[in-house]
Amino acid sequence: MMRFTFEQSGKIVFGRGTLPEVGRYAASLGSRALLVTGRSFAASSGLLQRLVDSLREANLDVVVFPEVEPNPSLRTVERGARLAASKGVDVVVGFGGGSPLDAAKAIAAVLALGGAPSDHLYPKAVEKALPVVALPTTTGTGSEVTQYSVLVDPDARKKVVMQGPALVPRVAILDADVTDYMPGRLVASTGFDALSHALEAFISRRASPLSNLFALEAARIILSNLPSAVKGSREARELMLYASMLAGVAINQAGSTLAHGLGYYLTVHHDLHHGVANALLLPHVLAFYAERVGKVDELAASLNFRSWEELVERVCKLADEVGIPDSAASVGVTESELDRMAEEAMFYRRNIENGPVIPSLDEIKQIYAECYEGRRALLRRLGRA
Ligand SMILES: [Fe+2]
Repeated sequence: MMRFTFEQSGKIVFGRGTLPEVGRYAASLGSRALLVTGRSFAASSGLLQRLVDSLREANLDVVVFPEVEPNPSLRTVERGARLAASKGVDVVVGFGGGSPLDAAKAIAAVLALGGAPSDHLYPKAVEKALPVVALPTTTGTGSEVTQYSVLVDPDARKKVVMQGPALVPRVAILDADVTDYMPGRLVASTGFDALSHALEAFISRRASPLSNLFALEAARIILSNLPSAVKGSREARELMLYASMLAGVAINQAGSTLAHGLGYYLTVHHDLHHGVANALLLPHVLAFYAERVGKVDELAASLNFRSWEELVERVCKLADEVGIPDSAASVGVTESELDRMAEEAMFYRRNIENGPVIPSLDEIKQIYAECYEGRRALLRRLGRA
């Protein structure tokens, strides 16, 4: 028997050359725009100026907030919101990778709700936000279609999240021309973020037949196009931009699970790119679930693999092919840290409890220990090395 709800608001505009349409869409939502972006890429590529021009041509007043760091902190959101409030901003434009988009969404929420960013964190639901127009410049985050804004609490050294339907951008503009500017390394890491979204959404306990359509299509596209996208194929990058949006819709419905929950530690404490953290954990997390429940078998079969082991092997080979490090050890994690990692990971219950089985503290330690050993060790254990 099927039973599910599926809510996906927001307009999706997909196509090369659509970036200058931002002015028209933003002007339909407000008259004073805050343009939220990262510190360097947008300006150096010349794209930021094109965006500002498009907004001004549509008669919007524009305030630029080009200060979003990777893994934006609550303080950055607070600074952006204060600037926007002082200028009477009524629409927010997010431009960049996941970090600027998530910061733009959080700023929009704080502007509508008042108070400090920390007043509006999960488990509270964000029910009000200024309208956001999102233009992703990387092919992984999916933030342009999700109700999540993932931030860092710098005092607690933890990832925190704002969540609620009001955070879904009103317009997402996906212009594959901007992916020309991505270095291959960034295509690899953000691509693994999107792959994690797709696979985790499928095995999530909130997955539905409809969210699975998005998850499986995203996974198929990523598994067959990521290497050529990394090498620079424009067609493959366009497909990755499409797939990362599909995977975003999938997690917007079903949520992410263990790879995200366990990966946050690596980002916060080892400054590892979010996508690389997911990539390091994904094969181990898939194996953990596969050895306990049938969901990964079902996932593998839906993607035309003969067994879950074959799917795990494919994910490992893909990571090798696009230059993802093999193990947590190779990115600086020490063996003496593993216990603390597991204890800190318990903070991310939202993700951990969203999987088909909930691991114990000892099982989380075991997954981290396997991730520390690396993919090659996992494949040997599975008899596939
Ligand atoms: Fe992610």
